[in-house]
Amino acid sequence: MSNAIQVAASILAADFARMGEQVQEAEQGGAGLIHIDVMDGRFVPNLTLGAVMIGAIKRSTKLPLDVHAMIVEPDHLVGDFAKAGASRITVHIEACPNLHRTLQAIKGLGCGAGVALNPHTPASLLSEVIHMVDVMIVMSVNPGFGGQAFLPEVLPKARQLRQMIHDSGRAIDLEIDGGVNTETAPKCVEAGVNVLIAGSSIYNPKFSVKAGIDALKESVSG
Ligand code: DX5
Ligand code: ZN
Repeated sequence: MSNAIQVAASILAADFARMGEQVQEAEQGGAGLIHIDVMDGRFVPNLTLGAVMIGAIKRSTKLPLDVHAMIVEPDHLVGDFAKAGASRITVHIEACPNLHRTLQAIKGLGCGAGVALNPHTPASLLSEVIHMVDVMIVMSVNPGFGGQAFLPEVLPKARQLRQMIHDSGRAIDLEIDGGVNTETAPKCVEAGVNVLIAGSSIYNPKFSVKAGIDALKESVSG
């Protein structure tokens, strides 16, 4: 199982003045994905970046771009994200009254379609769309900021989603986002997560990005 674990480098914690370099450090350090947090100041209380930055990151790496859209009305923007180079686009179920349509639109753009669940949102809400989902993100913090403490109460939900994925017979990536570090990652993997999204535990001025990724992988290799 642990052989299949990937680290997605969350560039929210990177030095934005050196974004190209920081993305390359993650690629060379063994990350499997670049995780890009789009925030609109409405769905979440923070504002980050959009298609222009996604395009710039696309030119800096060969890794797939895992776009996490923390925005209201994502249907207006998913086309721009796809054109800029997103490989997969994850929307929040709490922001999508017509989730089925939104997922159809993302797939129609040739991208993997993902659904993120906030800490309070139950796994069961995914049951009717699982046949069209490629990515699930379990939020282990309330979205909006990096560097927050991991919420262990979401682990039973990760376990439930892994069971739903198994039952569906589909190859769906189960990602976890927020507070992932060498202490919390083993619990996530034990619950069935196969993609660890990591920001502040790998972009840290005290050690290299590679050292952060290595430590995370090592923590789940047992
Ligand atoms: C939070 C974002 C995360 C964030 C995680 O809303 O979706 O991707 O970068 O940061 P850390 O790993 O520092 O908790
Ligand atoms: Zn994220």
